[in-house]
Amino acid sequence: MSSHTHKRRTTVADIRARKGGDPLVCLTAYTASMAEILDPHVDLLLVGDSLGNVLLGHNATIPVSLDDMIHHAKAVARAKPHSLLGVDLPFGSYEASPQQAYETSVRVMKETDADAVKLEGGLTMAPTIAFLTERGVPVIGHIGLRPQAVRTVGGYKVVGRTSQERKAVLEDAAAVADAGAFCVVVEGVVEPVAAEITSAIDIPTIGIGASAACDGQILVTEDLLGLFERSPRFVREFANLRAVISDAVAAYADAVKERNFPSDTETYKADPEQF
Ligand code: KIV
Repeated sequence: MSSHTHKRRTTVADIRARKGGDPLVCLTAYTASMAEILDPHVDLLLVGDSLGNVLLGHNATIPVSLDDMIHHAKAVARAKPHSLLGVDLPFGSYEASPQQAYETSVRVMKETDADAVKLEGGLTMAPTIAFLTERGVPVIGHIGLRPQAVRTVGGYKVVGRTSQERKAVLEDAAAVADAGAFCVVVEGVVEPVAAEITSAIDIPTIGIGASAACDGQILVTEDLLGLFERSPRFVREFANLRAVISDAVAAYADAVKERNFPSDTETYKADPEQF
């Protein structure tokens, strides 16, 4: 269970204050039903653009649209979570200019009850992060492996193995923190560099494939539940729902074929006298 016991919504200040304290527990959610299950256990729910891969059948986050994000963020918001609600800005909706990022973020916050937006990028996106935070948009940074940059980088590559990469990602972390982000997702970064980032900046680092050195962790919920055949190496499957679902559906199919479902108690009866 996470440490949030209060009934009010977790705020940006609550998350920010957890720097160096109890690890932040974060997960993705894309639907109201899943958000309801997760909410009591987490500090932050993220409507990630990973929904492109997880729900929509894309092989990357690139095709995800702003309308896709808003549709799912609205659903999660209907669960009225007490966790902080973050929403990813999808590829193409914020990179062109700080103004574009602002207009996109305002739409997300007005239409979805989001507390914060998340955007990918370090040094390059720092002016945008500053523009947003100065205008009332709380920002979660995202550095290291950036899934939206998969086409330019040429794959999902772990970051920080060379001194050049180490220097660049440390600069990204400092730039994002200085620009006013209240926490930063650190993805696919080798342990010593993730540890260095975590001690170098004064906002919480939320790791995904970035070791236990971070101030918190996030996973794609469907990965930890074991809903996919193949997950990245950093994922621990805390359940194997693939097998559970498959067994349940096989049992349902058998019961239907054997006319064993629905049973008498699962059937609405009518009073013969009413006919
Ligand atoms: O899109 C996403 O779900 C994410 C997290 C897993 C960090 O960015």
